Amino acid sequence: MRQIALLTLSVIAVILLSPSPLTAKTQFDHRESENKKPRVVILATGGTIAGSASSSTQASYKPGVLSIEQILKTVPEIETLAQLKGIQISNIASQDMEEGIWLELWRTIDNLFTHDLCDGVVITHGTDTMEESAYFLNLTIRHAKPVVITGAMRASTSLSPDGPFNLFNAVALAASANAQNRGVMVVMNDYILSADDVTKTNTINTNAFECPNFGPLGYMRNGTPHFFRESRYTHTASSIFNIKGLTALPKTEIVYAYAFSSDIAINALIDGSTEGIVIAGVGHGNYNKAIAEAMKKGSSKGVNFVRSSRIIGGGVDLSAENYDPRWPVSFNKTPQKARILLMLALTITKEPKEIQNIFMEY
Ligand code: SIN
Repeated sequence: MRQIALLTLSVIAVILLSPSPLTAKTQFDHRESENKKPRVVILATGGTIAGSASSSTQASYKPGVLSIEQILKTVPEIETLAQLKGIQISNIASQDMEEGIWLELWRTIDNLFTHDLCDGVVITHGTDTMEESAYFLNLTIRHAKPVVITGAMRASTSLSPDGPFNLFNAVALAASANAQNRGVMVVMNDYILSADDVTKTNTINTNAFECPNFGPLGYMRNGTPHFFRESRYTHTASSIFNIKGLTALPKTEIVYAYAFSSDIAINALIDGSTEGIVIAGVGHGNYNKAIAEAMKKGSSKGVNFVRSSRIIGGGVDLSAENYDPRWPVSFNKTPQKARILLMLALTITKEPKEIQNIFMEY
């Protein structure tokens, strides 16, 4: 009991509270008190949703400027949905996402859920690597409570920013009892997108995210989620990946294949400290002889490989042209998702057959 009280105090100590009525309380009301609204914690990491420009119509802007308190003030409507707390985890453009921030997100969410300090979590994030953070957390947060990631394609100062409504939808989803045990979800442009399939498919439009293989999980309307389907992959509460206590993750990289690719990049990785390499192959996960030779050399030095494809749909399966059981295939995981799954698989095994089984399940 004393330990839980101490932990609660330490979590609250890092919470940055808005001076606005929205976050004026220092801690969530107890569920039995008069405030029956779900408790949602918003973890802010930066990105365009926190971006600012010098004019409301120009496309260029600086991401990661607004604090979580400032973002919350732009959407006072979310007060109707949930009791809210904001925690500033970082304030970066998401191309600068780091392993340390992933581990901090994981620790914070695991603490909040383990000690029943909230009912759902929303993460505000830059859109460029949002799908990667979503998939990492989808594989490692071993809880059924909702984790929802959102962001924006237009800066907060835009004439018509998309961030406020995305945040409203994300909080509504995280506060919904219907959002339990669905894996980590991305909410953008009213769609609910599964972490295992979501990918950014447009560099500028507000409708920038799709699930190219399976379609969206559902959509948000009037603050209510409407689901069409469930994820077909194992995730969150059922995941085998236990990263508690880890301070670093296995080093995994991606090698991109193209017409007359050289072996310079792949050999540099093999000769470095890389533990696993995903090949973003052409077509159905193919690559040329230079890369094939380097893979043989890498394998003899203990490097694990996974064959993936640079093509957005269809994936790479076991009946692939040039199928070779030494190299697991990624099925419909993009190279950037396959890299994360390989990273976590390497915390358990270095055996290609077992890695292949993991790719079938996750
Ligand atoms: C970023 O990913 O941080 C910048 C782009 C965006 O958020 O849309």
